[in-house]
Amino acid sequence: MKDEDIERPPAMKVRQGIQDAMTYSLPDKKFNPKNIDLVEIDIGLNNLGWNFNNLRILNLTDIHLGQWINPEYLEELVDYVNTLNVDLITLTGDYFSYNLEDYDKSLEKSLKKLEAPYGKFGVLGNHDHWMSAEKIRTIFKSADIVDLSNDVHTLQMGEDYLNLCGVDSSTVCADNIDEVIAKMRQDTPSILLAHEPDFAKESSQTKKFDLQISGHSHGGQFIIPAVETTPFRGPNSTKYPVGLYKVGEMTQYTSKGLGTNSFRIRINCKPEITIITLKTTKRRKIKIE
Ligand SMILES: [Fe+2]
Repeated sequence: MKDEDIERPPAMKVRQGIQDAMTYSLPDKKFNPKNIDLVEIDIGLNNLGWNFNNLRILNLTDIHLGQWINPEYLEELVDYVNTLNVDLITLTGDYFSYNLEDYDKSLEKSLKKLEAPYGKFGVLGNHDHWMSAEKIRTIFKSADIVDLSNDVHTLQMGEDYLNLCGVDSSTVCADNIDEVIAKMRQDTPSILLAHEPDFAKESSQTKKFDLQISGHSHGGQFIIPAVETTPFRGPNSTKYPVGLYKVGEMTQYTSKGLGTNSFRIRINCKPEITIITLKTTKRRKIKIE
């Protein structure tokens, strides 16, 4: 899908102006890990090979650079992420809000600095398409991020395999799950990156994916204590807006994300960095002599 074929929301210039005005009014723009919710969860995957047991995947999503999150904040966040010793990094979209030109070099620099021995993998969100998917794909290339838009990358460790899959943004109808399935290594545990969490309805029905990782909702920016869910649900995040879900046989995880694309207010809903540790549910074969 080309940039010119994308249907954009009205008054993009006005949205850009509102973004700048809100952001400049913010007094404290420093990164502080204490203000971040570092969510660490174990997720069991059926038939995951023992070589992938305990693989640590760190997910970042909804950076919305230039809106509340400034380049210095992102750089410090990346330095912090690099201290967390994860194996692999995933990125689930919305790198910008309504302004790309002033921040593209900063995003490129920060994403380049992210370190993960098994690689960095990303998909795009709706805002990225509204700005320029082509420019973000260029940033991905320069920052050594594997673009998983309707694509698959299969990892191998010993005799074990793991499909890392991605689907492009469903908000702008760029998703093509059939293309993804056609590229997958069959009978292999599979993780899907999908910006919009409600895509889980469609992906779970294929029975091809064990886990979907998403963002997009910003956790509704308000989480009701004790119930741990949100009443504020935007398009494509009405069903699975925050946290962990079981959708059919698939696990869905929706991150609260880092930035926002509207007011900065977040109540009981800190910005999030997620670390998912994969666990095999397979029994280990023991040789009996
Ligand atoms: Fe989004």
